[in-house]
Amino acid sequence: CFFFSCGLGTQFPEIIEMEAVSTSVHTFPKDFSFGASTAAYQIEGGWNEDGKGPSIWDTLTHTHPEIIADHSTADIGADSYHLYKKDVEALKKVGFQHYRFSISWSRIFPYGTKINAKAFDYYNKLIDELILNQIEPVVTLHHYDLPQWVQDEGGFLNPNVIEYFKLYADTIFREFGSRVKMWITFNEPFDACTEGYGRGVSAPLIKLSGVGEYICGHYLLLAHASAYHLYKSRYAKDQRGMIGITLDGRFYYPKDATVTNDIVERAIQFDIGWFANPIFSKDGGYPKVMIDEINERSKKEGQAWSRLPKMSKTTMKYVKGTADFLGYNYYSSRLVRLNTSDFDPNAVPSWLSDTRLIYETEPSWKQAKSSWLYSVPQGLHDVLVWFKNQYNNPLVLITENGWSDDGRLDDNDRIEYLKSHLISVSKAINEDKCNVIGYTTWSIIDNFEWTRGFTEHFGLFTVNLTSPEKERTAKKSAGYFHDVIKNRSV
Ligand code: NOJ
Repeated sequence: CFFFSCGLGTQFPEIIEMEAVSTSVHTFPKDFSFGASTAAYQIEGGWNEDGKGPSIWDTLTHTHPEIIADHSTADIGADSYHLYKKDVEALKKVGFQHYRFSISWSRIFPYGTKINAKAFDYYNKLIDELILNQIEPVVTLHHYDLPQWVQDEGGFLNPNVIEYFKLYADTIFREFGSRVKMWITFNEPFDACTEGYGRGVSAPLIKLSGVGEYICGHYLLLAHASAYHLYKSRYAKDQRGMIGITLDGRFYYPKDATVTNDIVERAIQFDIGWFANPIFSKDGGYPKVMIDEINERSKKEGQAWSRLPKMSKTTMKYVKGTADFLGYNYYSSRLVRLNTSDFDPNAVPSWLSDTRLIYETEPSWKQAKSSWLYSVPQGLHDVLVWFKNQYNNPLVLITENGWSDDGRLDDNDRIEYLKSHLISVSKAINEDKCNVIGYTTWSIIDNFEWTRGFTEHFGLFTVNLTSPEKERTAKKSAGYFHDVIKNRSV
């Protein structure tokens, strides 16, 4: 049993002290859960079936195919909407103990605040199938695919999103909460906001650099907190589940000896701290360094206000402490140094310029198929220790970690990546006493990698996209992971 299936109630799962082990074996506590992750738009297909409405990703792929590397859509993709049993079978083969998937908001609320009850069927069947196979469902409420009708009102730039999300969360808790005990409100707010509303390179393609990402982040935090409070006041007593949020963020190291600790710390705060500080820190609110930097730059730009929305004392209190655990996606790290170029009053402001940093990689870091993904296992260990020190050792569920390649079955680089990162997790638990309760790899199957389409593969199983059966075939890494779980060690 894992997480809440052990009947742990509101108690925190304990970290079991490990016996002395030889230096080459890295073990995991008895209660530690291994799982795999996916997201609705990336695997489901069935994009307009049974009353589903369009999401911002349907809109993007249908209206701007040129933005997607292979001009593909995920209209059908791996077709998990019909073939979810094959996914569960794959999870079972590896021996995974939990499965993190997301619900498509625009299936449940296709065109407005009227429920499409037909959409419950698919998730009910999936959840039941998982439970039948002793795999614990871990459900993300929102993973990038905002309903288009919410976006038509401005999406995360309009505070209406808070009420809409609360209504959606309420519906989901009511419908599935008797069987789902691990909830994640949002996936990767940093990416959703900077890519979607700042740089405008991902759905919904809003280019409001230096402003949009911060407004998006602000309302997203409020939407998250409102779902948390709703769960606690209306459902937690009976349903006894845990609710958290999944943040992403890299870990950072100094480029050279001239880079001081506070510069590295600034990089971490602008990335992870932006969303973690308001929820997990003792005092709440945005990280001081972000407030100061953005205030100062806004002034220099001649603004009478800061581009980072001010969090009132009431809002700070409302958001603070709104997570039972910290979901965290780790993929990579960066080196940082100060950007010493002079302030340019004519330059378009951005999150990047606000950090006043330059981000680099180390030549020795192995690169995946994805341009941004370099293997830095040490970063996963160090960020877990940073969480422990910064936020009083919160419960952490690693909700994603994985490696992209060209889809080969003999995926030795993936195995090496997974192994080195699992060792980092084991060390953080056993040597540093970090409260890590589980590890979730991305992903169980190859899937639609957003603007990279189907050109980058993260799965432990390939999917034959050209046949109607869409067979899932195990890669070598699936066998590797099977052994890790069986031995509960690396
Ligand atoms: C994080 C995102 O949550 C997921 O959707 C994506 O596919 C992986 N990173 C890999 O880029």
